[in-house]
Amino acid sequence: MASLKRKVAVTGATGFIGAGIVRQLVLDGYTVRILVRPESMKKAAFPGRVEIIPGDLQNPASLNEFLTGADTLVHCAGVVRGATQATFERINSEAVRQLVTIASQKQDLHRFLLISSLAASQPHLSPYAASKRGGELAMDTAPSHLTCLALRPPAVYGPGDKELSPLFKAMARGFAPRWAPAENRFSLIFVTDLVSAVIRWLASPVPVSGIYELHDGHDGGYSMDEINAIAESVLKRRIRQVRVPAYLLDGIAMMNMALASVIPFQPMLTPWKLRELRYPRWVCDNSAFAGATAWEPEISFSAGLSLALAGDAQKHLAQ
Ligand SMILES: NC(=O)c1ccc[n+]([C@@H]2O[C@H](COP(=O)([O-])OP(=O)(O)OC[C@H]3O[C@@H](n4cnc5c(N)ncnc54)[C@H](OP(=O)(O)O)[C@@H]3O)[C@@H](O)[C@H]2O)c1
Repeated sequence: MASLKRKVAVTGATGFIGAGIVRQLVLDGYTVRILVRPESMKKAAFPGRVEIIPGDLQNPASLNEFLTGADTLVHCAGVVRGATQATFERINSEAVRQLVTIASQKQDLHRFLLISSLAASQPHLSPYAASKRGGELAMDTAPSHLTCLALRPPAVYGPGDKELSPLFKAMARGFAPRWAPAENRFSLIFVTDLVSAVIRWLASPVPVSGIYELHDGHDGGYSMDEINAIAESVLKRRIRQVRVPAYLLDGIAMMNMALASVIPFQPMLTPWKLRELRYPRWVCDNSAFAGATAWEPEISFSAGLSLALAGDAQKHLAQ
């Protein structure tokens, strides 16, 4: 159990991953403070013990208040969809630079954890990938009293996720859209395993610094055929893979860009996102982080798929 005196400031608490981090920190007895945009206050209910600072990553005054008195920052906020380079750059790189600058001036603040992304390993692919790498590079300017860690998760899934959940729901209905060649491979991680990695680092007396990849323990990642086979055995039904023609995805992506130029809309599917989706090898290696911290992932894809579907169904009923 962590000392109640440890005060952790968390960004992105209204999001999929950040909400999980906050929930576990509270359960583990940390004192938790979150930065929430005023317009997002109603998005999630937080335990009474969580201190809420209204603010925005683009508002340095609110960041200053947010970090005053905290000894650790877990920076999980980020932009994952958008149609302009500036949208990603502003939040995923610039805001990290700003946070590093402010955190460096706080003598009590000793640890800074950034939720980066495996995408940062291929910054040439898209503005998102480049902006996540930019965030990591911003940490290089931190002074020595601030131990900085960037975690690079691959695709994260679990209850509340919006990106992979449509695929899993389609699988539960008996079909799986396929958008990339069969030989492509990718790693995955269940959200609670990412959260446990964060907690493991926070709780370690001598924290490691640097950039670390994480996955669910399945070395070498998965192909879509392997995912399909696991899903068929978990869901106990045949799942038909349906190839989505490249021209259709390209067309939707172009249409989204056109729409985003005339109405306020942050699309997920863009030509850049397609470059990411078609990248052949989103495979990572978690041995360095596991070796440095003794962290171990617990949720295999077969267990995680059931948990994700059950959790989403529960959330749906609660709404
Ligand atoms: N999900 C994945 O598969 C995955 C994989 C690798 C890395 N990551 C990284 O993990 C992080 C969290 O991802 P997620 O899936 O949890 O995303 P998410 O559900 O979209 O959550 C994003 C969070 O960032 C906050 N945020 C965005 N702009 C902000 C601003 N200007 N000021 C304050 N807060 C702001 C959002 O607040 P509002 O509620 O106010 O919008 C929200 O809490 C991101 O940095 C992402 O790059 C995610």
